[in-house]
Amino acid sequence: MSASSHQARKKVLLLEGIHPVAKENFAQSGYEVELLSTSLGEDELISKLKDFDIVGIRSKTKLTSKVLLENPHLVGIGCFCIGTDQVDTHQAKLLGIPVFNSPYSNTRSVAELVLAEIVALSRHLGDVNRKAHEGTWLKSAKGNFEVRGKVLGIVGYGHIGSQVSVLAEAFGLRVQYFDVVKKLPLGNARACDSLQELLSTSDFVTLHVPDTPETRNMMTAKELGQMKKASYLLNLSRGKVVDIEALAEKLEAGHIHGAAVDVYPKEPKSNKESFESRLQNIENVILTPHIGGSTEEAQENIGNEVSASVMSLIREGSTYGSVNFPIVAQAYRENSHRLINVHKNVPGVLGDINSIVSKHGVNILGQYLATDPDIGYLVMDMAEGQPAKIIDEVNELDACLRTRISH
Ligand code: NAI
Repeated sequence: MSASSHQARKKVLLLEGIHPVAKENFAQSGYEVELLSTSLGEDELISKLKDFDIVGIRSKTKLTSKVLLENPHLVGIGCFCIGTDQVDTHQAKLLGIPVFNSPYSNTRSVAELVLAEIVALSRHLGDVNRKAHEGTWLKSAKGNFEVRGKVLGIVGYGHIGSQVSVLAEAFGLRVQYFDVVKKLPLGNARACDSLQELLSTSDFVTLHVPDTPETRNMMTAKELGQMKKASYLLNLSRGKVVDIEALAEKLEAGHIHGAAVDVYPKEPKSNKESFESRLQNIENVILTPHIGGSTEEAQENIGNEVSASVMSLIREGSTYGSVNFPIVAQAYRENSHRLINVHKNVPGVLGDINSIVSKHGVNILGQYLATDPDIGYLVMDMAEGQPAKIIDEVNELDACLRTRISH
């Protein structure tokens, strides 16, 4: 059997109208690509995938355990979106299939919207805009403020929070933040020692924390009450972080002067479903339909990032950016064969593989192993020779899940 028969084939199925840049990237690198605008149901998906090695999906296509078990030959899965709940990532791992996503491609889009909304809240833009459309002229300076010199408190100084920090300073806001992890302040930003300190000293509070048991209901009546009188709250993180009823009451009582909310505890599943919230029709409240990260640029970034991750998996076995695999990311060494192996994480596998290689008199040039409780992921560079026999023997090991070569 030739070495090339152990290499991943390059047939890619892209579903759900993934940004065309992904198709272009794959095609330019010699992949054969089919792009469909819709998702496929389980049965259709099972039979369609038989002919492909890589599948790219967004949030609607369900890669269930059944779909994966019927298509164990898949080499990689690209989720061209943020979430990966639609894939049985554990099953994929046990079959040796890395799953990639793109969690940070829309960071800048969210940060820009936050800045726009800080100004919009400060100037009651939502209300005056609606009134003007209805024919009412609401010209007044009262209660409208510049944002220059005001204090912005950022809760969660991660990818989005830190981008907001940089943009906000350019606007003349004074930035402070609170994070459970010690973070380097950017520009002139200042770290607060506690959430309470941040809440009681900020004119605007913007939330950029993940959805975790600790952040759920992070802002209840108590924390909202700790905010400065006449301050503003923005939540473009996750819906369950804020107690909506408590926020509505604080807004109606005038303690909080306005809010911008993009995410809700319960959101419509599609644009066809109607949307209801306790926050509707409260003065100076901007409600958006979870569009913080929804821009053309973010979609293009996602297309570029996920296609690059998948191609680097195929080319050099890199699992960088994978959500279900131990990470190995090593540049390919010229003039060598690269063996890529997934095995059950049981004692002795590495020794067995090394014995096979040495039995064939092949020199190991580099070996990179990462493990998690279920699997070991090995990328091994060998001196040039005849790797096909080695791969066949490695594949015969009881603990081996799959082995291929990339070069
Ligand atoms: P990230 O993981 O880069 O940053 C989150 C930060 O929050 C980290 O620095 C973490 O240490 C900190 N953190 C965690 N628990 C905390 C706590 N209890 N108190 C204070 N800080 C805490 O995440 P990223 O990319 O900045 O995203 C932030 C949020 O924005 C996530 O919930 C994400 O789902 C959401 N998001 C919303 C979008 C939208 O369309 N509205 C689009 C993209 C992300």
